Amino acid sequence: MRIVLAPMEGLADVHLRRLLTVQGGFDWVVSEFLRVVDRPYPDHVFHTLCPELMQGGRTAAGTPVRVQLLGNHLESMAINAQRAVALGSYGIDINFGCPSKTVNRSMGGAVLLKEPDTLYRVVSAVRAALPKTVVVSAKMRLGFDDTGLMLANAAAIEAAGADELTVHARTRLQGYAPPAHWHELGRIRAHIRIPLIANGDICSIDDYHRCVAAAGTVDVMLGRGAIKLPTLANQIRANQSTVMPWSTITAMLNSFWHEISQVLPPRDCVGRVKQWVNYLRQQHPEAEMLWRTIREEKNSHTMQALLAASIQ
Ligand SMILES: Cc1cc2nc3c(=O)[nH]c(=O)nc-3n(C[C@H](O)[C@H](O)[C@H](O)COP(=O)(O)O)c2cc1C
Repeated sequence: MRIVLAPMEGLADVHLRRLLTVQGGFDWVVSEFLRVVDRPYPDHVFHTLCPELMQGGRTAAGTPVRVQLLGNHLESMAINAQRAVALGSYGIDINFGCPSKTVNRSMGGAVLLKEPDTLYRVVSAVRAALPKTVVVSAKMRLGFDDTGLMLANAAAIEAAGADELTVHARTRLQGYAPPAHWHELGRIRAHIRIPLIANGDICSIDDYHRCVAAAGTVDVMLGRGAIKLPTLANQIRANQSTVMPWSTITAMLNSFWHEISQVLPPRDCVGRVKQWVNYLRQQHPEAEMLWRTIREEKNSHTMQALLAASIQ
């Protein structure tokens, strides 16, 4: 069983990656995507996206971090992949799932699911640029509007030499709305030989087992489920549902605040904490109480005081 923490731009940044991997249970994490255009990026761009590269390519808990690239410029994808790996990335993940209109307009992300040949070329270019020992993975959705090209896309990624394929079990059209269509992953599983990592709406042990049964793979990527329930990866591993004490969660929230307030503007810090508590309240009743206290709060000093008070 392999459990991966999903890339989530604007949500699972270096700070949350640290806090979640400290809880344990994750084999590796994937960074937010770097949008590759027609030129190599300087090192500071990689370091800003993925500060873990400055500490050996691992989170503070020691979990390896894989940089995710998004784009279709073959030479540039190859060169930037090489650079990311030289800087310490634990392999390269290629994003074929981003639904953003802006990103799709520039022919990156999920729009490429309309063109299996392009997927093949992009993965081939990155694969050819890296030694065989470096993992190249791809992350796709079930399709753009529908699943018509799903198997062709998965096969193209495999034929191009990817070592693993993660599939978010929704089309771009389906966005993030439940349900995730795990049974489609079973069709992909039967069609390719490389490891398949199932993703989408795994928020409990029960979800995990239902997903495994439908998808035919024990490997999963956890996204929002791990933000709501920071012990989810460990629970799945132990096959045991353990409730994290509220005091541990408030300690995490305060630690999160402490870290982000050193690097982000006060307004952003307030927003980020609200964002996380909003997820946490879906699993933790105490978070609902905290949410009611903080949801209208705009002042960073008051927010800090409220978080500190939540510890007692
Ligand atoms: C806020 C947010 C940002 C995301 N950013 C990325 C990203 O940068 N790269 C990517 O491949 N997927 C991204 N995703 C998709 C997730 O990795 C994942 O595939 C999706 O949320 C479904 O999994 P989940 O139901 O476990 O959250 C993002 C999702 C969310 C909610």
